[in-house]
Amino acid sequence: MPTPSPFNGQKPRILSLQSELIRAEFCSHGARLLALYLLNPDGSETNIALGFPQLEDYPALDSYVGAICGRYANRIAQSRFELDGQEIRVSANEGANHLHGGTEGFDRRLWDVVELGSRSITFALTSPDGDQGYPGTLNTQVTYAILDEDRLQCRITATCDRPTVVNLTNHAYWNLSGDFSRSAADHLLQIDADAYLPVDEQLIPLPGYRPVEGTAFDFRVENSIGERLAESGGYDHNFCLDGERGELRPVARLTDPESGRSLRLSTTEAGLQFYLARHFSPALSSRDGKPLHPAAGIALEPQTYPDSPNRPDFPSARLSPGEVYEHLIEWRFSPGPG
Ligand code: BGC
Repeated sequence: MPTPSPFNGQKPRILSLQSELIRAEFCSHGARLLALYLLNPDGSETNIALGFPQLEDYPALDSYVGAICGRYANRIAQSRFELDGQEIRVSANEGANHLHGGTEGFDRRLWDVVELGSRSITFALTSPDGDQGYPGTLNTQVTYAILDEDRLQCRITATCDRPTVVNLTNHAYWNLSGDFSRSAADHLLQIDADAYLPVDEQLIPLPGYRPVEGTAFDFRVENSIGERLAESGGYDHNFCLDGERGELRPVARLTDPESGRSLRLSTTEAGLQFYLARHFSPALSSRDGKPLHPAAGIALEPQTYPDSPNRPDFPSARLSPGEVYEHLIEWRFSPGPG
């Protein structure tokens, strides 16, 4: 008997974009980045974005690998919040809390491909009123575009027909060595953030902000991730980015010291969730068939702060009819010294 399709009988589309330096593959399931090949100085190429061998693996594995997370990326405490005096309950998929859009988040949807150019792809998704508990219909578009030979942009927009909340990001995991059987903890990281959000044991932000000064969260100057990993208790935290929300600005840089490959991340958002994976099972393999290291990749997810709908002191995630939510993410890749 054939195994039932995890895509409800539909076929996800795979599409790619290419420049002289990069070749990116995308999938309509989750509007996902499947792979990012970077040209090496010797003419070979290396995939630096974590992916699984088969498309069918993605729905079961649930790590949001390369996908667009929404309607609300990150956590909403107790899966509830108030909007205009009304209590809204959203789907709980991490204990009592809501993570990355709930049980059927945007990472699990088949998006439409609405535009396909030589240098850009646009995916679209309509999320109906009440989807995962959220009020209002949300129309979302995601455009991936190669802007320069070394620069990939992800532009996420959304509109609604009733007041709602929205927080959308891309959830790629990077390992710039290209070897996902190797820990990414040896990477060097720099983040433009003077403060981060301490969290409780369920990774819900505690009251207040904490200066990074003198802590394992100080990445204002480039530092090896592994060096203070034990002291940090594991990196899965929101960094409060310097600069103005709404302005596209470089906020982080990741480097593999061995190959010299690096990526620079820019965003228009206020926060950056930095997550050094620690959950991948070696029973899983990467695209090239090698067993995954538990810390196979680093997710750098620009977004508004976690649990904002319950935190009036955080940047607002509210979207009203007539407004356009827009989030720009850019990755600039460097192949390192030749
Ligand atoms: C979260 C992690 C979670 C991971 C799932 C990250 O954005 O912060 O806590 O385990 O996504 O892949």
